Amino acid sequence: MSRNYLLPDISRPGKIGCSLPHLDVPPAELPPKGLLRRELELPEVSETELVRYFTALSKFNYGVDTGFYPLGSCTMKYNPKCHEDIASLSGFTSIHPYQSEESAQGALQLMCELQEYLAEITGMSGTSLVPMAGAHGELTGLLMVKAYHQDRGDKARKKILLTDSSHGTNPASAVMCGFKVDTVPSDNEGNLDLKSLESMMNEEVAALILTMPTTLGLFDPQIIEISQLVHDRGGLLGGDGANLNAFLGRVKIGELGYDYVQLNLHKTFSTPHGGGGPGSGPVCAKKNLTDFLPSPLVTKDNKKHMFISPAKSIGRVGNFYGNFGVMVKAYAYIRSLGAEGLKEASENAVLNANYLKEKLKAYYYLPYDRTCMHEVVFSGKRQKAKGVSTLDIAKRLLDYGLHPPTVYFPLIVSEALMTEPTETESKGTLDAYVNAMKEIAREATENPEILHTAPHNTPVRRLDDVRAVRQPDLRWHMSKKSS
Ligand SMILES: Cc1ncc(COP(=O)(O)O)c(C=O)c1O
Repeated sequence: MSRNYLLPDISRPGKIGCSLPHLDVPPAELPPKGLLRRELELPEVSETELVRYFTALSKFNYGVDTGFYPLGSCTMKYNPKCHEDIASLSGFTSIHPYQSEESAQGALQLMCELQEYLAEITGMSGTSLVPMAGAHGELTGLLMVKAYHQDRGDKARKKILLTDSSHGTNPASAVMCGFKVDTVPSDNEGNLDLKSLESMMNEEVAALILTMPTTLGLFDPQIIEISQLVHDRGGLLGGDGANLNAFLGRVKIGELGYDYVQLNLHKTFSTPHGGGGPGSGPVCAKKNLTDFLPSPLVTKDNKKHMFISPAKSIGRVGNFYGNFGVMVKAYAYIRSLGAEGLKEASENAVLNANYLKEKLKAYYYLPYDRTCMHEVVFSGKRQKAKGVSTLDIAKRLLDYGLHPPTVYFPLIVSEALMTEPTETESKGTLDAYVNAMKEIAREATENPEILHTAPHNTPVRRLDDVRAVRQPDLRWHMSKKSS
C-alpha cells in the first residue's frame, strides 16, 4: 500500500483475510467475461495484517484528544466526553422526527429550554435552533433582515456592509441572499473605521454584520456608537457569533446593540468542530426580529410543549428541527457548567490567549498590541524578512509534535498566525507551545533551511496543498509489486 507513502505495501497475490464457510448451495454462474469489472482491484492481505494496517493508520490522526490544537477562529476546544454519553442515550437517539409531539415531550422540553438558555446567554428575546452550521445561521439571519425590511415596505435596502476582517462565509451568505456587499475597512487599532462606516451607512444598507469579538481576536470598544449609527440610519446590526467562546456568561451580545446573532454550537457548546459536522448554528434575535425566525420554534402552554411557527416566519431553512444530537450536547454543557462555569470557561479562554500574546510578542510581530480576547493574531513578517514564510513556521511546528495555528487569516494581517488556545489548556501545554515557537524563531535566524524543508518527522513530508485538495488520493491502488 505504498502509493500513500504511509505504510509498506503488504498486499500479496493469494493472501486472504477471511475464511468463508463451505458452499452448501450450487455455485452461481459468473456473468459473462465482458461484464466482469477489471478495475476493482482489492488488496490481498491476512486478517492480522489488515487489523494492524488500520490501527497504524488511526495512530496518524491528530485531534484535540491527542494534542494541542490552536486553530484560530475555529475554537477546536476539548469537549467533555460525558456530553457524548448523554447525547447517545437511547431516549435521544431512538426518537423519530415523525413522532407525535405528545410522544416526544422530553425532547421538546430540552429544545425549549435550550432556546431560552441561548437567548439568555446572548441577551436576545428568541432563538431558532434549526440552522445546521455557522454559515447556515448567517444565511438565516440575513433572510430575516430581508424579510424585516420588506415587511416595512423599505425596498431600497439591498446592500450588506461587512468588515475587511470578516470570515469568508459572511460575504458568501450575503450574496446567496441576493444582497450586494460592501466592505468597511479596519483602522490601525484593528477596530472598524468609524469614519468609513459614517460615509457608507445609507438608505441602501440593510445591515452591518460585525463579528464580535472580531476575527482579529479583539473587542471593538466603539460597538455602542456603531450600533447607534447603523440604527439611526434605518439599518440592522447582525452578529457573527462564532467567537462566543470569549464572551460566555460575561457579555450579552444583545446588550451591545445587536439585533440578532448566529452561534456555532459546534465550537462553543461541546460538539467537536471539524470533520464535516454535524454542526448547529442557532439564530438568536431581539424582539424586532423574533416574528421572522425560521420555523418551527418550540413553545409551551400550561400542559405541554409544542412546535409553532412565528407570525411572519421566513419559513423552513432545513429538514425537520435541526441537528438534535448537537442540541443535546449544548444543553448538557450549559447545565453541567452552570452560569458560573460558563463565565470561568470564557475567562480562561481569554487569559490563555493573553498569556501566549505576552510570552511570544518579543519573537513574533504583534500587529495590534492590546489586550486580546480568546485568540491572538501574530504576523510572521519579521521571519519573512529573513526568507522564512508563515507556512514554513507552521510546517516546522509539526516537527515539534504540535498542530499549527490558523495561517494567512484574517486576510488583513500579512503572514498571519492566528492562535486560539481555548480554556482547557494548562500552563504546561501553553509553555510547550511557547518554547517551540521561540525555538522556531531562533531557527529562522540561524538555520532557515530546516524551516524551508519542514516537516521532517511526520509520516508525510510537505504536501502540494492544491493537488491534495483537487486530486485527493484516498484509496489503495495496486502497485507493481503487489500485482
Ligand atoms: C468567524 C466565523 N464565522 C463563521 C464561520 C462559519 O461557521 P461554519 O463553519 O459552522 O459554517 C466560521 C468558521 O470557522 C468562523 O470562524
